[in-house]
Amino acid sequence: VATDRLSVNVLEATVAQKPVVRHLLELYDYDFSEIEPFGPASDVDEGGLYGYQGLDAYWTEPNRFPFLFRVGGRWAGLALVVRRRALLSPGEAFWMAEFFVMRKYRRRGVGASAATQLFARFPGRWEVGQVVENTAAQAFWRDVIGRYTGGRYREVALDEPAWQGPVQTFEGAPAAGDPRTP
Ligand SMILES: CC(C)(COP(=O)(O)OP(=O)(O)OC[C@H]1O[C@@H](n2cnc3c(N)ncnc32)[C@H](O)[C@@H]1OP(=O)(O)O)[C@@H](O)C(=O)NCCC(=O)NCCS
Repeated sequence: VATDRLSVNVLEATVAQKPVVRHLLELYDYDFSEIEPFGPASDVDEGGLYGYQGLDAYWTEPNRFPFLFRVGGRWAGLALVVRRRALLSPGEAFWMAEFFVMRKYRRRGVGASAATQLFARFPGRWEVGQVVENTAAQAFWRDVIGRYTGGRYREVALDEPAWQGPVQTFEGAPAAGDPRTP
């Protein structure tokens, strides 16, 4: 098992890079088909694609932000961030709609670094949710958010139409990565 950490660049995806995002989302959906085999998007269509719905809005709506991860000059993952009505408090929150690290880059700090860069990029209230079945993602987000906030985050197990599963909430701050002093 490779244990050396990798450094990752988080780039806002341009409209010209939309096909890259779309292709990586196919791989993400494929991973998810193992976690949620009975989910609505767990099979490819007749053309052999999952066909992520609603992607275009990330280049047309002001509250949606698409990102690609770059490691050593290669695509290594993606994130889709949305600012929307908060689930756990009044007002708005940033929501990690999708977050994905390519398999060969996993467990080398890429996801943690990319997530922390995004929290710093969007200061303010954050909410991150995982589906109940995705226990690996729950371990990942508890670890990343726990370190980022120095343990100052709240987790709620939601079972509502809007979300079913754990949701962590905390404040993002511009000082990337450093646990803040009380
Ligand atoms: C979840 C995911 C983003 C993690 O990315 P990653 O780059 O491998 O994560 P990191 O290497 O930064 O991991 C940081 C820490 O999170 C925890 N963690 C990460 N993956 C884990 C796993 N599969 N099981 C348990 N803990 C995990 C560990 O504590 C890890 O530190 P360590 O490697 O020193 O033990 C990646 O596995 C992925 O893309 N999975 C499929 C898509 C997905 O589930 N996305 C999240 C949807 S909410």
